[in-house]
Amino acid sequence: MQLKLLLLYLTILLIVIRSETIAAQSLPGCEDKCGNVSIPYPFGTRKGCYLSKTYQVNCTKLQIRNTTFKLLDISLDGYMHGSLPVAYRCYHKKQKPSEPKIHLSRFPIADRMNMLTTVGCDARANMKIIGGEDYIAGCLSMTGCNMLASGSCFGMGCSQVPVPYGLTSFRIHTQRNTNSSLGKGSFNNCTYGFIVQKDHYTFKETDIDNLHNRSFPVVFEWSVGNTSCEEAQKNGSNYVCKENSVCIDASNERNQSFQMGYRCQCAQGYQGNPYVSYGCQDINECLEHQNNYCMHRCSNTNGNYKCACPFGQHGDGRKNGTGCTYTEWSIFSVTAASVVLTLMIYGGFKQRQVMKSREKFFKKNGGLILQKLLFESKGSSQMARIFSAGVLEKATNNFHKTNVVGQGGCGTVYKGTLADKTMVAVKRSKSIDENQIEQFINEVIMLSEISHPNVVKLLGCCLETQTPLLVYEFITNKTVFHHLHEQDFISSLTFERRLNIATQTAEALAHIHSTTQIVHRDVKSSNILLTDDYTAKVSDFGISRFIPIDQTHLQTLVHGTLGYIDPEYFRSGILTEKSDVYSFGMVLVELLTGRKVYSYDGTESELGLAIYFVSSLERGCLIEVLDAKVKEDGVDDHIKKIAKLAEECVEIEGKKRPNMKRVKDELNEISESCLKGSIISKKVKYIDQDQIIFFDSY
Ligand SMILES: *[C@@H]1O[C@H](CO)[C@@H](O)[C@H](O)[C@H]1NC(C)=O
Ligand SMILES: *[C@@H]1O[C@H](CO)[C@@H](O)[C@H](O)[C@H]1NC(C)=O
Ligand SMILES: *[C@@H]1O[C@H](CO)[C@@H](O)[C@H](O)[C@H]1NC(C)=O
Ligand SMILES: *[C@@H]1O[C@H](CO)[C@@H](O)[C@H](O)[C@H]1NC(C)=O
Ligand SMILES: *[C@@H]1O[C@H](CO)[C@@H](O)[C@H](O)[C@H]1NC(C)=O
Ligand SMILES: *[C@@H]1O[C@H](CO)[C@@H](O)[C@H](O)[C@H]1NC(C)=O
Ligand SMILES: *[C@@H]1O[C@H](CO)[C@@H](O)[C@H](O)[C@H]1NC(C)=O
Ligand SMILES: *[C@@H]1O[C@H](CO)[C@@H](O)[C@H](O)[C@H]1NC(C)=O
Ligand SMILES: *[C@@H]1O[C@H](CO)[C@@H](O)[C@H](O)[C@H]1NC(C)=O
Ligand SMILES: *[C@@H]1O[C@H](CO)[C@@H](O)[C@H](O)[C@H]1NC(C)=O
Ligand SMILES: *[C@@H]1O[C@H](CO)[C@@H](O)[C@H](O)[C@H]1NC(C)=O
Repeated sequence: MQLKLLLLYLTILLIVIRSETIAAQSLPGCEDKCGNVSIPYPFGTRKGCYLSKTYQVNCTKLQIRNTTFKLLDISLDGYMHGSLPVAYRCYHKKQKPSEPKIHLSRFPIADRMNMLTTVGCDARANMKIIGGEDYIAGCLSMTGCNMLASGSCFGMGCSQVPVPYGLTSFRIHTQRNTNSSLGKGSFNNCTYGFIVQKDHYTFKETDIDNLHNRSFPVVFEWSVGNTSCEEAQKNGSNYVCKENSVCIDASNERNQSFQMGYRCQCAQGYQGNPYVSYGCQDINECLEHQNNYCMHRCSNTNGNYKCACPFGQHGDGRKNGTGCTYTEWSIFSVTAASVVLTLMIYGGFKQRQVMKSREKFFKKNGGLILQKLLFESKGSSQMARIFSAGVLEKATNNFHKTNVVGQGGCGTVYKGTLADKTMVAVKRSKSIDENQIEQFINEVIMLSEISHPNVVKLLGCCLETQTPLLVYEFITNKTVFHHLHEQDFISSLTFERRLNIATQTAEALAHIHSTTQIVHRDVKSSNILLTDDYTAKVSDFGISRFIPIDQTHLQTLVHGTLGYIDPEYFRSGILTEKSDVYSFGMVLVELLTGRKVYSYDGTESELGLAIYFVSSLERGCLIEVLDAKVKEDGVDDHIKKIAKLAEECVEIEGKKRPNMKRVKDELNEISESCLKGSIISKKVKYIDQDQIIFFDSY
């Protein structure tokens, strides 16, 4: 009990100390307040307390040096509140009009947050820059004094217009709008003009002739320096943003050349005053938000926070992140002797719990349906296997980091070795659409029955974990994507190998389309695996459909880097075999050009590489876009044929694309003629290009 009290005391003490450090908004030894108005640095009241005289605040007048507004509040986001007097002119007695000159030094009126306002039955107000000639803004109220409308400000006794930007030195001029010839009923005695913060003035009939001594709240902008962030940072010595802060240009969005200097802001995860040394203090998210960010335990870090999951669960632990999910059982049993000891004591109890949760997932993931279906199809030799979680944990060394062989938008792939030394690839998806479990199972069975030399074999699945695990045969030599785009592979794909890959992929797709009517949906170079002898194996048939597209994936779509996705499908949502044909066409293009299908360099249009390729082809500049390797050892005629085929595949209209069978046949034809004729045509080509020149110059 006493310990608890002590802890509580310490916590309170900590909070108190913290809030004190945050409250220090001014330089050491400087007043940080004038009455109840806080004065954060760069503002200050005395020499040595402000950045420059421009930011000197006179506490007795509550005014910043060389300005005429009364200060109400300074906030660190670059705005401050003050008040300005009303300008007026009266006609019923010989009284001098009041049109105070307003000087704001370098703190212009925040244009979007204030309104120029006039009050009177027949009144207008204009702004005039001091030293200038022209009126720069004006508003007009014209109505009979018997038609005033309290509560509105649209010309019935009151009228408002927005304020221009960058105003620092001006006066407001107000007067009647017309001459008295219109009759007495149209006039009241005085007209008023003033600036007021948006939505902070409500017109009342009784305000007519009664605003003489009022002043109204106005929002001003402030900033430091008179260059952009970049320039200020370059110059260094004058740059005032301190540790853990970022710089923000204050130049007006509507007129970039109107340079207003810059502002400082604490970096994310920090708060305080970015203009004083160590003013930006780490936010203790755990204390401040009472652990609202974490599922379980929260620990603060510099500029951020970390969440921990309870024993036996994993994930980032964040409520807005992946949270905590159950890890497979044996992960807990490995670490240390003490853990083993604990397990020995609680083991029996835990074991029962784990068994229960596995059973639950098994049922949720459709295990029962699968068992039933498997039982029904017992005769078939190529049967999907149901793997138990334990077997896969053992095979992958508890899904150890070092066993990860791939990671994508939809999940992680682990390398594993089963007890009988078979190498497998275990794919753990992020999540799966529960409503489609039955169909998922159906396709798992159908796909596991497919045996094609160019399709990665699906061996089975495990349904005892939160998201189903898919088990595939292990393919040794990475993906076509790796071989095309990663530095250490780049020279390995000769033209002949590329042609083989294309042909084999086409065969796999044609086979699946004709035997199952399953559409792959995600044909791309990183889904085509390679064996040691460069045989292509297509992976992940149809499965992608059950896995909800995650955020980042979606974003790339929305941003228009369509890449491999059939634009027709993307627009209509209707999926056909022809969508795979489009994606395959893009793989062909990729093989020919060696370029990535999505490119972020911004030079290509929405359809990216597809358009670029097709237009090069049409302009007869194919040679310019070809990969060096293809140019080097490909044969013109064959390259042209493949390019033509690729063009047909990426037709915008699905109808006009060939089907996979035709694509396969054409590629086979090219492959065959390639084998027969390559040597001869190669010679011809060399003579074409280099040799003749060579001889000439001799
Ligand atoms: C400051 O004090 C004045 C007068 O006591 C009061 O009118 C005003 O609302 C106070 N301002 C703040 C921000 O508390
Ligand atoms: C502040 O304003 C008062 C009143 O105008 C004046 O007497 C005083 O000298 C000013 N103080 C400073 C530091 O400028
Ligand atoms: C500010 O006021 C001082 C004294 O009133 C004056 O000398 C100086 O020129 C003014 N500065 C600006 C920028 O108006
Ligand atoms: C307006 O002026 C007239 C004539 O001078 C006077 O009788 C009347 O009281 C004035 N009204 C107000 C609201 O001051
Ligand atoms: C009002 O009348 C005076 C004198 O008749 C004239 O000079 C002035 O231009 C008129 N003002 C307006 C706004 O009509
Ligand atoms: C308004 O100003 C007048 C002088 O213009 C003054 O006589 C009167 O006392 C002031 N009223 C208030 C409420 O401050
Ligand atoms: C603007 O920049 C110049 C040169 O760096 C400097 O002397 C001057 O004080 C700056 N003005 C303001 C208002 O910061
Ligand atoms: C750096 O600041 C000095 C004065 O403080 C100024 O003369 C110079 O032009 C500045 N240089 C750049 C690159 O802004
Ligand atoms: C932008 O601001 C500059 C500097 O104040 C001024 O010279 C220029 O006329 C402004 N441009 C526009 C379009 O308002
Ligand atoms: C989760 O919340 C933190 C803190 O509010 C924020 O920094 C982070 O961007 C959020 N992440 C997501 C994925 O929303
Ligand atoms: C791919 O296969 C080639 C030829 O067998 C071999 O030299 C290379 O090391 C393999 N690469 C990988 C990543 O397995």
